[in-house]
Amino acid sequence: MVNAERYRNPSHQFQAPASDEEQELQELEATSDEAYIECQDLFKIYKRSDLEVVALRGLDLTVEPGELIAIIGASGSGKSTLMNLLAGLDRPSAGHIRVGSRDLLDISDRELVLYRRLEVGFVWQATGRNLVPYLSVRDNIELPMSMAGVSTPDRHSWSTELLEALGLPDKANRLPHQLSGGEQQRVAIGVALSNKPPLLLADEPTGELDTQTATQVFRLLREINVAYKVTIVMVTHYPGVSEFVDRVVHIRDGRISSESYSTPTFQRDGERVEEEYLVVDRAGRIQLPPDILERFTGRFRQGGLAKADPEGDGVTIRPIDDRPRTNTPGGRTTNDEPPGQDDSRFRRNP
Ligand SMILES: Nc1ncnc2c1ncn2[C@@H]1O[C@H](COP(=O)(O)OP(=O)(O)OP(=O)(O)O)[C@@H](O)[C@H]1O
Ligand SMILES: [Mg+2]
Repeated sequence: MVNAERYRNPSHQFQAPASDEEQELQELEATSDEAYIECQDLFKIYKRSDLEVVALRGLDLTVEPGELIAIIGASGSGKSTLMNLLAGLDRPSAGHIRVGSRDLLDISDRELVLYRRLEVGFVWQATGRNLVPYLSVRDNIELPMSMAGVSTPDRHSWSTELLEALGLPDKANRLPHQLSGGEQQRVAIGVALSNKPPLLLADEPTGELDTQTATQVFRLLREINVAYKVTIVMVTHYPGVSEFVDRVVHIRDGRISSESYSTPTFQRDGERVEEEYLVVDRAGRIQLPPDILERFTGRFRQGGLAKADPEGDGVTIRPIDDRPRTNTPGGRTTNDEPPGQDDSRFRRNP
């Protein structure tokens, strides 16, 4: 069905990029033991008139070459912001963000155009946003290649192969509105892979699909990930996504809070178990999971105290309800209350 050899076949590469960029890419591929995506202490602050919104606050994320990961998190947690930064559609406010050989914080506009054209494919949630409505399926898939100057025979042979891989060989001449939602998203994946990018980003690609169709799209993404060795980062709200990906990364309040993995149990064939782990950042910080915060409602609160005690090979974290009151030589208590008037110890001499 798919021919992995051809994905990065130089004879099928396009006139751009200029030779030094091409070399840079090849060097990167030769040293691929390095992480493919690296975000460190990443900040994105949106400014609207005099209001500032901190969408990402010190996010750390590493993605290995060829990994398929899903990002999940509540609405407004910063998922799309991160995707837009990775796609080169927006620039970060501070921190470090590297994809392949490109430092996306310190990148020229020209390089950013090359990056978007050749190194990253993007699939949006809204099916209508991914496809040109008056172009056939094949023409949609070939459009990014045309813009990159690929010859007609090369365009045709790659779009034919992609249509095969997407399970749509008989739909090449249809217009987008003549396809189901799931088929449209499959074509969108084809458009994103048109220029054979090493990275595919998808922001809620199944957000408008039913569960069964969503499952088919996830399976397709996995097939493409394996066959073409494309690194894939997708945002989803789909609860069962962990069985289709290598890792689920949970984002909370603009930072990565935890990761979960689905592993076979080996007890019963096909049975899997999902395990969630907290992510420790470079400063040793962890975020307590929301269900624990809920269980201890009000006891783990902003600015409140907790005690960490080593226990065996773990740590027990206990909320401290009241700040300890200690008398200091200066006569102040550590909870900053002024000494009481009637407290004889603090009475001034007449
Ligand atoms: N262009 C913008 N201008 C100002 N604030 C923005 C902009 N884009 C996003 N934000 C704010 O940044 C925060 C993160 O938004 P983001 O779109 O990344 O969330 P999300 O996790 O993708 O949410 P959803 O699941 O609803 O898509 C939110 O508070 C949002 O209101
Ligand atoms: Mg979003």
